Amino acid sequence: MVLYLIGLGLENEKDITLKGLERIKESKEVYFENYTSKLQCSVKDLGKLYKRKIIIADRNFIEEKSKGIIKKAKKESISILIPGDVFSATTHIALFQEAKKYKVPVEVFNNASILTAIGITGLELYKFGRVASIPFDNEKIKTPIEILNENQKINLHTLFLLDLNNETKKYLSIQEAIEYLLKNKIKKETMAVACARIGWSDYKIKSGTLEELMKINYGDPPYCLVIPAKKLHFIEEEMIAMWNNKA
Ligand SMILES: C[S@@+](CC[C@H](N)C(=O)[O-])C[C@H]1O[C@@H](n2cnc3c(N)ncnc32)[C@H](O)[C@@H]1O
Repeated sequence: MVLYLIGLGLENEKDITLKGLERIKESKEVYFENYTSKLQCSVKDLGKLYKRKIIIADRNFIEEKSKGIIKKAKKESISILIPGDVFSATTHIALFQEAKKYKVPVEVFNNASILTAIGITGLELYKFGRVASIPFDNEKIKTPIEILNENQKINLHTLFLLDLNNETKKYLSIQEAIEYLLKNKIKKETMAVACARIGWSDYKIKSGTLEELMKINYGDPPYCLVIPAKKLHFIEEEMIAMWNNKA
């Protein structure tokens, strides 16, 4: 049978594609990977609209028990629902590889991702460099700063994804991300764009210096932060000005 990897998009249960929904209906079991990102809806909301029992698959389940799911998918079709787009978190590549290894057919249903939806800031997508993730325990972590410096050298934008844990309802805040950057000698005058709930109806985007962005209340997660390249196209400049905190 088939392993269906279905992207759910950014906001809620209604962002699924029609094709994805059809495959859910054909599946014997439906899993929901809920640890790489946060949607606005609950698992109950997903189950209600899709009219299926939804099994929560946490990090341990996806990373340790993926072989079990793949073996099941050999006999009966299984859907795995993934927030955002399917391959925008590295862990799902392993599922795909595993399925191929066991000769289980895989079908992928793409959806919106933070990696493209961030285009709403007005910063050109093809001018983003390597993406950096800021983890909760970041005392000794230098990689995000190295990525920022590399990107800045060749005039590219840097997207910082901020750690989250849906189980404990813990989300690294924009303030914590800025504190991390300041502690690592990024200047408080650096221009940045702070984003919350992109793709949701109540999204919030603010531009300003790190010092200014520190003082804003962004509401609920998920959050991310962008440090734009030093040299911007005039349309990028206009858009950044539009999101300015004072505007
Ligand atoms: C590991 S990525 C997974 C991305 C997801 N699979 C996708 O395609 O969008 C999760 C991180 O992206 C960021 N993120 C995800 N959705 C977001 C949203 N709607 N608004 C702002 N940031 C978001 C947060 O920093 C979050 O910790």
